[in-house]
Amino acid sequence: MHPGVSPIEIIRAKGLGFKYQQADTGECWALRDISFTVNKGEFVAILGPNGSGKSTLAKHLNALLLPTCGEVWVNGLLTSDEANHWQIRQLAGMVFQNPDNQIVATTVEEDVAFGPENLGVPSAEIRARVDEALELVGMAGYKKHAPHLLSGGQKQRVAIAGVIAMRPECLILDEPTAMLDPRGRMEVMETVKRLNKEGITVVLITHFMEEAVAADRVMVLADGRLVMSGTPEEVFLRGDELRALGLDTPPVARLAQELRLAGVELAPSVLTVEELVSELCR
Ligand SMILES: Nc1ncnc2c1ncn2[C@@H]1O[C@H](COP(=O)(O)OP(=O)(O)O)[C@@H](O)[C@H]1O
Ligand SMILES: [Mg+2]
Repeated sequence: MHPGVSPIEIIRAKGLGFKYQQADTGECWALRDISFTVNKGEFVAILGPNGSGKSTLAKHLNALLLPTCGEVWVNGLLTSDEANHWQIRQLAGMVFQNPDNQIVATTVEEDVAFGPENLGVPSAEIRARVDEALELVGMAGYKKHAPHLLSGGQKQRVAIAGVIAMRPECLILDEPTAMLDPRGRMEVMETVKRLNKEGITVVLITHFMEEAVAADRVMVLADGRLVMSGTPEEVFLRGDELRALGLDTPPVARLAQELRLAGVELAPSVLTVEELVSELCR
């Protein structure tokens, strides 16, 4: 969270449960009794094995899905009240896994303009927002380019710019780097961190543990339940529990553990290369 942002909540889930109706197997509870809040300006990472309910949870944060039981509020607006949906979807913008599915226009600038156009923003203001959003994601030089010819990381940053151009309070990203190469992943993560520093709340679903290290807080889902919540240091100290869920600790934490086993003295929570270097030089 960047300094100066008051910790006022933007998202609140209380006793949230969600049930899919499946034709073959009957009903499936994808979320069970989930309660948490996210403060304005916070960066929250959500981890969990496949099928644990992460995407289902993400879709509740901008009213794409509505609770079967319990409640979700976005900026104090109840998602189950349909009258709030328009405002909620503008407040909480979603970025999905596959960048190709998010391209809607034939040039980058038209693509980014699509969201604000739908919000009825005046055209001069749209142009300013498009420029600003492309600047923020590091794609200002690509306005006239064809989005489908860009790299995966560039496409995903254009998708993020399209959301940013709608001036959301909160950015919800559902495994935005899953289909990208390491360079694209780095570009997207740098962009997400920069936007958070600018004051945008971030909810990042990821299966890359090293991405969760950048968050203020990590939440872990398993079988539709919220099973852990804490700082990255707190959560990644629980390596055995994470492994039992089929998750892992970040690569640097694993390396630090190997070094400890080899007799090197290190602090209990070493998560980043910088922390490891400073511990080794101590
Ligand atoms: N559209 C759907 N219809 C029925 N069941 C679904 C649907 N989407 C997801 N599920 C089920 O809900 C559970 C949670 O899925 P999901 O939220 O996609 O998990 P994750 O994103 O963590 O992989 C899984 O058991 C999945 O099979
Ligand atoms: Mg998912």
